[in-house]
Amino acid sequence: MVRDGLYQGKRTQIDPFAFDDAVSDVFPDMIRRSIPGYQSLVDITGLIAAKRMRPGARCYDLGCSHGATTASILKAVGDHRCEIIAIDSSAPMIAAAAANLVDQRISFKHADIRDIDYVDASFIAANFTLQFLPPEDRLPLLKKVRKGLRHDGVFLVSEKVDDDGEFAELHLDFKRENGYSELEISQKRAALENVMRIDSQDMILARLHDAGFTDCRIWFRCLNWISILAAS
Ligand SMILES: C[S@@+](CC[C@H](N)C(=O)[O-])C[C@H]1O[C@@H](n2cnc3c(N)ncnc32)[C@H](O)[C@@H]1O
Repeated sequence: MVRDGLYQGKRTQIDPFAFDDAVSDVFPDMIRRSIPGYQSLVDITGLIAAKRMRPGARCYDLGCSHGATTASILKAVGDHRCEIIAIDSSAPMIAAAAANLVDQRISFKHADIRDIDYVDASFIAANFTLQFLPPEDRLPLLKKVRKGLRHDGVFLVSEKVDDDGEFAELHLDFKRENGYSELEISQKRAALENVMRIDSQDMILARLHDAGFTDCRIWFRCLNWISILAAS
């Protein structure tokens, strides 16, 4: 795994964060050192998916990056027949996912998750992806996702939440503990400023409700990072 040192050097200008080649090259290290509980959340996402996916079931992985969530689902379903549609709008990310995961049951799509027609899904996962959509595009996407789920299907969505100061401060401690310097933290924060726009937990739950998800449960939380299982 290549160590993330992208923001180590002092930059004279901070460009908006993008899922480009430079980020893709260090992404597995970056996400593990940045999101508390990431590995547990991804591992358990697979277990949750496997419970919902009968043989032949279809699932979607929205914003699959290098394919960690898809890999976890495949591990949990074992040899069962299924179809996983893994989508990412970043060319280097989807290329890395396709190189990492060679399995006939996966279709990789280099596409925007807003442009996909979701059909007959037993499980849809969006691990840390919706926070990169413009806020006004989130409800329309959630409505499409809900319509694309089977009646017994479930949507799993994980996001950073805007929370009180204590959890945000502890999250910074987590990053420092993982070797990020103050300069790296502040430069990355500046890069993400208008790219990753986070909501409060209440706002996320209200939006899911507005999209028709009547049964929403927070199944995972680590500091200011949460994951919700949404069904209707
Ligand atoms: C934080 S990463 C997701 C991590 C990944 N789900 C995992 O668990 O390892 C966000 C991903 O969403 C992708 N993304 C952002 N906006 C997107 C969009 N509108 N359509 C498709 N993919 C998108 C990015 O390219 C990036 O790979």
